[in-house]
Amino acid sequence: MSKFPENFLWGGATAANQLEGAYNEDGKGLSVQDVLPKGLLGPITDEPTPENLKLNGIDHYHRYEEDIKLFAEMGFKVYRMSIAWTRIFPTGEEKEPNELGLAFYDKVFDTCKKYGIEPLVTLSHYEPPLNLSKKYGSWLDRKMIGFFAKYAEVVMNRFKNKVTYWITFNEINVTVFSPLLGAGILEPKESLTMSQRYQAAHHQLVASGLVTKMAKEINPDFKVGCMVASQPRYAMTCHPDDILYAMEQQQETTFFVHVHATGEYPYYTKRLFKEENVEIDITDEDRDYLSHTVDYISFSYYNSRTMAKDPSPYETAAGNVYRGLKNPYLSYSDWNYPIDPQGLRYMLNFYYERYQLPLFVAENGMGCYDEPIKNTDGTLTIEDDYRIKFYNDHILEIEKAIEDGVDVFGYTAWGCIDLISAASAQVEKRYGMIYVDLNPDGSGSLERTPKKSFYWYKKLIETNGDSLQSNET
Ligand code: BG6
Repeated sequence: MSKFPENFLWGGATAANQLEGAYNEDGKGLSVQDVLPKGLLGPITDEPTPENLKLNGIDHYHRYEEDIKLFAEMGFKVYRMSIAWTRIFPTGEEKEPNELGLAFYDKVFDTCKKYGIEPLVTLSHYEPPLNLSKKYGSWLDRKMIGFFAKYAEVVMNRFKNKVTYWITFNEINVTVFSPLLGAGILEPKESLTMSQRYQAAHHQLVASGLVTKMAKEINPDFKVGCMVASQPRYAMTCHPDDILYAMEQQQETTFFVHVHATGEYPYYTKRLFKEENVEIDITDEDRDYLSHTVDYISFSYYNSRTMAKDPSPYETAAGNVYRGLKNPYLSYSDWNYPIDPQGLRYMLNFYYERYQLPLFVAENGMGCYDEPIKNTDGTLTIEDDYRIKFYNDHILEIEKAIEDGVDVFGYTAWGCIDLISAASAQVEKRYGMIYVDLNPDGSGSLERTPKKSFYWYKKLIETNGDSLQSNET
């Protein structure tokens, strides 16, 4: 008997800048992502060029119908996607929105509706307009709150009968660690003070509260959530120094959930700001906006992080943005990320215990090299048993969390279709259940082929989780 609620939202997640392509079509302006051809690893370009792989995405802009049809074949109930801000306001400062940009998302939502798929929309997934970054320093400037609110108001009004679930910012906590990725701040991280980083994050938190307030005025049935990059912090040893260190590190993330869930900064803010030498400007109006709390908490989960107060004796492990130490009890992915399904159950309990708000797993997946087999008729077969195992084991832990009593209402597998990686702009780091014929040099037919995991996930959704394979020996 399935442990998942009958109306559990199964689906997949993507982000506009990683799959749409068409970076300069139909009036779209440049976003910060359009000048990051190598993701976080490379230089910021002055002028994007069409040869730039990241700009091309996987051509979803022209193939959205085919892609959503494939999602429907898998049985998706929900599709988490983002709107590219620069399709709607190309520079972020226009008085009127770009109708062609709005019309594109009308078509996307209508296609979802045709297949009975609920869209869940992220308003800002790492891609503020480049103009705002160059002119104002992006979220370092308070003016961003107004620009973002205007964009949000326009899209929420336009799509008020087509979209119910919204997320304000993708992985909002990333701003402090990577101001470029999280907040589109072009200045090198090293030249920013911790006060500047937290001020930028504060502006985003205020914008998130303001938009949550506005959302309810536009349509009281809207459900607005926050989204936080989440990894349980494990202490490397049982030495109290390590335990406390891991606790403090955890608080740096929970901080962002806490503000969204309770409308206030948490009790440990004073200590955290003192340690980090942070002083930020918070107005009474800001506090008022922050008080508009979210309906649900969503988060991404890729791996746990293991920490020690003195990390020097230990080997490090990788991670897309954040890194920890090598945990000897875990296995590792092709990119040397820890694989820790139980960490997901831990995280679900961790948030539910504190906030008792419904939870949504907005991203979970593993980037791997796939090796397609070419069949005699020219078609491809992708036997991705490693991905199936990853998903099976993680979803089993969600099932256990539900049995623990946690209210989880949905799960979207990250990069349900192969797309361009955020951190390193690699296409060979594949997350999808649908293979896209695209090579690192930009060649390829862009043809879509369901992988073995596609059929596995379809069965899982059909049976509402009953087809999961127990991994207990
Ligand atoms: C999340 C982001 O941090 O991780 C996604 O929200 C990203 O945009 C995903 O793609 C996986 O990371 P990467 O760098 O492997 O693409």
